[in-house]
Amino acid sequence: MLQGKTIVLGVSGGIAVYKAVELLRLLTKAGADVHVVMTKNAQEFVTPLTFQTLSGKPVHTDLFNLYQEQEIGHISLADRADLFILAPATANLIGKIAQGLADDLLTTSVMATTAPVLIAPAMNTNMYENPIYQRNEKYLAELGYHIMTPASGALACGWEGKGKLPAPEAILTEAQAVLSPKDLTGRSILVTAGPTREEIDPVRYVSNYSSGKMGFAIAEVARQRGAEVTLVAGPTNLEAPAGVCCVRVGSAAQMREAVLAGYEDTDVVIKAAAVADYRLAERADQKIKKSAETMILELEKNPDILAELGRLKEGQLLVGFAAETENLLAHAQDKLQRKNLDMIVANDVTRPGAGFDVDTNIVRFLYPDGRIEELAEMSKHQVARHLLDRVAGLLVDRT
Ligand code: CTP
Repeated sequence: MLQGKTIVLGVSGGIAVYKAVELLRLLTKAGADVHVVMTKNAQEFVTPLTFQTLSGKPVHTDLFNLYQEQEIGHISLADRADLFILAPATANLIGKIAQGLADDLLTTSVMATTAPVLIAPAMNTNMYENPIYQRNEKYLAELGYHIMTPASGALACGWEGKGKLPAPEAILTEAQAVLSPKDLTGRSILVTAGPTREEIDPVRYVSNYSSGKMGFAIAEVARQRGAEVTLVAGPTNLEAPAGVCCVRVGSAAQMREAVLAGYEDTDVVIKAAAVADYRLAERADQKIKKSAETMILELEKNPDILAELGRLKEGQLLVGFAAETENLLAHAQDKLQRKNLDMIVANDVTRPGAGFDVDTNIVRFLYPDGRIEELAEMSKHQVARHLLDRVAGLLVDRT
């Protein structure tokens, strides 16, 4: 997403400047070509040399420096940027932008650019809550500037409250969102993720190794592309992506209920969850005591949620997953047909770099007309992007 993009990282003065160093590292790692512009105050906290070393490029600090002006110039920077990120953005910087003031390289460049501007504010809580600041923020948001909500916590000034710079990872995600195509705007997408947990008694359960990472990545990317996303998640430690309506469930029966509740009004369902196929025939009300040498648990079949959606389908686009350990294509093709799907994502979970609890996946997309697409090993977020490209294409074909 950020590969090859030109990003201007504007750093203004505040204790959070050191976090902008980490943000620069993340942006560079994601493949972006990052140019750093620092205000005079920012240089009081961290020297330009730190940013220069990490970005491998001179840091721009001075509006009237002839060399910098010739090499990059504020207009050239403003023109070339695909995105401006202001992090940390002080109340002063935001105030100046809102008033149209351009008295240093950063404010001049921001004013001269037509690229989207992402602002990550950081300031004292009282400053953040000051109606003057709030008015400036609201005004800029109305003009189309993307403004993040600061994080809460203990601030450097000794106060507790809202005003901390959002985490660099969160700023990175937001930058990806700003630059994403909005080709899923107006579409409602329901994603399931994670395992389900079938209780044996109040302290034990039957489950599987699914981490939920694939489904959470799909939900996050779908949201970035403008979709209205509901994420029905089995038990995982993952945090719900910003802007996604997350419904946490435990068992397959609860997942079924949550999925069916929203199905009628949904355009696309992507079932990345690893639903337990069986549940306990009888869940014990009290903790089962150890007595006999062996123990037999009687299991009964869970409803197949996706097959049910396939039967009830009225124009929704249905995408399933098939995690297999053998005969990948045959099993996936069978599921595609049997569950009346529009697409299935097949992966061999025994391959290194694929499957549960890793950050990458190796998948194939299968379609009802017999087409098979093979993708290389890539991050789960990249798989999510490819998958949603295909989903967006299928939605367009239908209209
Ligand atoms: N699925 C579902 N409900 C179930 C089982 C599976 O909705 N009770 C969905 C999964 O979310 C996935 C697809 O069906 O999208 C395939 O799941 P998988 O476990 O691979 O297939 P099963 O149909 O359960 O077949 P098997 O366990 O025999 O491989």
